[in-house]
Amino acid sequence: MIVGVIGSGTMGSGIAQVAATSGCEVKLFDTKQEALDRSKQALEKILSRLIEKGRIDQAEKTRIQGNISYVDSLKDLKDADLTIEAIIENLDIKKKVFSELETYVSENTIIASNTSSLSIASIASSLKKPERCIGIHFFNPAPLMKLVEVIPAVQTSTQVTDKVVSIIKDWKKIVALAKDTPGFIVNRVARPFYGEALRIYEEGLADVATIDWSLKTLGGFRMGPFELMDFIGNDINYTVTETVFKAFYYDPRYKPSFTQKRLSEAGYLGRKSGKGYYEYGENVIKQSPKEDKVLAQYIFDRVLVMLINEAADALFWNIASAEDIDIAMTKGVNYPKGLLTWADEKGMDWCVNMLDNLYNEYHEDRYRCSPILRKMVRENRTFFNKKLVADN
Ligand SMILES: NC(=O)c1ccc[n+]([C@@H]2O[C@H](COP(=O)([O-])OP(=O)(O)OC[C@H]3O[C@@H](n4cnc5c(N)ncnc54)[C@H](O)[C@@H]3O)[C@@H](O)[C@H]2O)c1
Repeated sequence: MIVGVIGSGTMGSGIAQVAATSGCEVKLFDTKQEALDRSKQALEKILSRLIEKGRIDQAEKTRIQGNISYVDSLKDLKDADLTIEAIIENLDIKKKVFSELETYVSENTIIASNTSSLSIASIASSLKKPERCIGIHFFNPAPLMKLVEVIPAVQTSTQVTDKVVSIIKDWKKIVALAKDTPGFIVNRVARPFYGEALRIYEEGLADVATIDWSLKTLGGFRMGPFELMDFIGNDINYTVTETVFKAFYYDPRYKPSFTQKRLSEAGYLGRKSGKGYYEYGENVIKQSPKEDKVLAQYIFDRVLVMLINEAADALFWNIASAEDIDIAMTKGVNYPKGLLTWADEKGMDWCVNMLDNLYNEYHEDRYRCSPILRKMVRENRTFFNKKLVADN
């Protein structure tokens, strides 16, 4: 199969590596020669490291590299069966590239976008045959992260969706099918991990080190929210939140935080700028958490229940199946447990009571409980745990 990848930056390079490893012939295109050179060098380094670690041998490295050609014209993608675009996150530019691409490729070529935040329907509308357009959303780094969200637009044909799901599975990835709505699954459901942590901090209930410590110790998250925001970059993380907030017609659940906006404006972007919520570099002593068990439990419960509410609401609105919502969070952002599984463990009563307590305290729409959680309580049900249902 011939795969065309448009844009050889972070994501395009990773996607090209995944497809080439699976035996596809890849044409990787970028408008900038430096970007193509950088991508080629980066792959050389990655594959050499895999040889050092004993994961692949020289022959495998040669095979993967031989499967990728670096091209400087969009026309060179003309024989592709599937193209995946990973260029700058700008709707007008993506649409322009898509309509030009359609003049070169065959009738049956599938034209996909790796966009994180734009609507697939709007991108598809730039094509004469929009039914061939679909979202294929990889996570960074693409070769390591198992999850791929596949997002059919209203225009997408079921044949195209089925074909793409089967290709991505052949690439040894786990597929979560998502509706074409802001943030798809992961970037929507993960919002409270940052948002509620920031809110707790802004209320002065705890400092960032204590909040991070609470979620890592009690929740088993690999990084606390502030460590993770510093890792992602406060500029990028803020922009995703703001985009989701606007796209949901200013639903207060997704309201961005002034704390993060100011850090971003100040250039305190996190690890990449040497300072964010924490300071980085040699001789920096990391803040220590206040190891107060009662406070830590409150912080963890509050963030967790907001995450559960978001996951439950995504199910309520048919964004994805319960299985896919849980897989998306464990395989796309390495959560220690799926959120709906977590809801089952905590109990539906616990979830609803916790949310109602928050709502009663603040009287903000942000804390409204998803109708599906109330329904589960009423009907004495769980999302997955059939044994519990049987015991009842
Ligand atoms: N970085 C992430 O974590 C991540 C994760 C999932 C999805 N995405 C999405 O993937 C896409 C790419 O993100 P990235 O982080 O790889 O960006 P990037 O800046 O690393 O790379 C973008 C590349 O596209 C090239 N480019 C720009 N305009 C072009 C055009 N008209 N034709 C061909 N090439 C062009 C640039 O030269 C650059 O090399 C975006 O839509 C982004 O939302 C990013």
